[in-house]
Amino acid sequence: MCGIVGYVGNKNATPVLIKALKKLEYRGYDSAGVAIYTGEEILVQKAKGKLLNLAEKITGEIIPDQVKKQDFSDTEMALYDKTGDFIKGCMGIGHTRWATHGEPSDLNSHPHTNMDGSISIVHNGIIENYADLKAKLQAQGIVFKSQTDTEVVVHLLDQKYKASGDIFKAVIETLHVLEGSYAIGVICKDYPDRIIAARKESPLVVGIGKGENFIASDVPALLEHTRDVYYLGERELAVLYTDHVDLFNFDGEKIIKQPSHVEWDMDAATKGGYEHFMIKEIHEQPKGLTDTMRPRIVKDASGKPVDVYFEENKMDEAWKKASRVVITACGTAYHAGVVAKYAFEKIARMKVDVDVASEFRYRDPILDPSDIFMVISQSGETADTLSALRLAKEQGLKVVAITNCVGSTVSREADDVIYTLAGPEIAVASTKAYTTQLLCLFLLAVKAGKLRGTLSDEEATKLLCELESIPSKIQEILDGKDVIQKFASQQFNKDKIFYIGRQFDSATSLESALKLKEVSYMHSEAFAAGELKHGPIALIDPATLVVAIASEPKLYDKIGSNMVEVKSRGATVMVITQDSGDAFEGKADLVCKIPECSSTLASLLTVIPAQLFAYYCAIMRGYNPDKPRNLAKSVTVE
Ligand code: F6R
Repeated sequence: MCGIVGYVGNKNATPVLIKALKKLEYRGYDSAGVAIYTGEEILVQKAKGKLLNLAEKITGEIIPDQVKKQDFSDTEMALYDKTGDFIKGCMGIGHTRWATHGEPSDLNSHPHTNMDGSISIVHNGIIENYADLKAKLQAQGIVFKSQTDTEVVVHLLDQKYKASGDIFKAVIETLHVLEGSYAIGVICKDYPDRIIAARKESPLVVGIGKGENFIASDVPALLEHTRDVYYLGERELAVLYTDHVDLFNFDGEKIIKQPSHVEWDMDAATKGGYEHFMIKEIHEQPKGLTDTMRPRIVKDASGKPVDVYFEENKMDEAWKKASRVVITACGTAYHAGVVAKYAFEKIARMKVDVDVASEFRYRDPILDPSDIFMVISQSGETADTLSALRLAKEQGLKVVAITNCVGSTVSREADDVIYTLAGPEIAVASTKAYTTQLLCLFLLAVKAGKLRGTLSDEEATKLLCELESIPSKIQEILDGKDVIQKFASQQFNKDKIFYIGRQFDSATSLESALKLKEVSYMHSEAFAAGELKHGPIALIDPATLVVAIASEPKLYDKIGSNMVEVKSRGATVMVITQDSGDAFEGKADLVCKIPECSSTLASLLTVIPAQLFAYYCAIMRGYNPDKPRNLAKSVTVE
């Protein structure tokens, strides 16, 4: 997730900004930049890669690789200090970028400037209507330097400023044109005493210092300087001067807010107050899903969702003609593929084969050029997934990739890329990447169904409306997480945990069992519920916890019978279901109710209690869920 910082005061802004960005490194980034008002002009420096690359570029000094590997080393900090000798100025903005629109590169890095370099901005979020705005601006002769959505903001702002001669007014007018989510910081050469900042749906904090003020995406960037902050609210602006800060709403009216005093230490602050990244990322799912979905759902003039649009999608013809979708991936991403099999069959009536990439690559798979080959990979760097992709391309297939990492190897080698916009996932165990992968797959299934004429307009609209309601339903589950925490406190010593489900729920069982074993080291397995009596039931005894996932009302009786079978053999049973309890009366020790949802899309909800359960079991067993033993975030070897 991008990081924003800004400084206005009496110190040399460049090192202050770079060191503040260093404190936001935990958010993940692929490039960085600063824009400083030097007294005469706005000077911009940006570089792909680490902040050290930026500092090297500014100072011309090269740091040995060994030093680069040490975090917060004295050499690194000294180099940041030295940047102030090369760019002098007491006001500026800085940015670390996590690419969403356009690959990581010097040009796509922020800050972005208008054509004459007199206005500069940093942005975190997604401008959903940027393509329309860009086309209009280009038609008026504006030359774009980057592929980013952000650059439209600075050119629009420039136009509005030229029209009114008032930068504050121009910012407000620009904000009214933008759709999507954003936190922005703006500096203008004609206003050398102030930074203007605004937010809508992306975080922004104002740090209140003595003779200096700051903006930042998150508190850790500020803690070295101040603990007094304004948390900017939705649709609020701040104008920061050296000696004071004024706050406004989007209508330009002044507002009064009480500052907050931050008590968190640095460690808690980087996790946004959560104890671990895993639980933070579980809670980020409503936002990640909204960010991933909103730019892709096409609405008619009345606001009714009617279609799906992936701007990167170049394969409409292939989707129309394809006889099959072949999906390969590893681990959690593979489980998303298993859900996709049910989704594509049900929604688009398409044949789907799913395989783990490590198996696929060593088989002699039968592929047809009319197949669509799909890889799913959070990191976009998984060795087995990449090999499967290359094998499919060698055989002449078109490859579509779903990944969370712009510029990753998978994204570069695939013919078509759909990005999950979950933001960087830091905990090793995947949570928000998984649900955003599911979302992209559901959206793709709707698109494929429409293209192939297998899904009616009414059904497509119904599914899209329901998808739009998913983030708030996930929030509801998160708000009721205490029930799961309590249940985990009673079950964390169990020897065996089995997840069972049918159809979509059997796919969710796979992911739920993986999550639990990864972070809590409890022995957990997943079985298609109907398979229990063909073998696994022999394992059931009073030391077993069985978690039944039951999102399909038509199958309540069937899964209910499985629950009775295991309960009568002494197992403890929890059921994750949308039924309010009647269907499973006397069959479960805990009914974990999820909000109502069609069984087609319920896998976006049923996995949430399972993620929470895994997290709480890990904590209660004394393990750090962010760094499970023996596991790496990105598996770049076979
Ligand atoms: C589980 C997990 C792994 C990954 C797998 C594939 O929580 O994170 O199973 O899903 O290693 O990684 P990507 O998606 O990066 O290809």
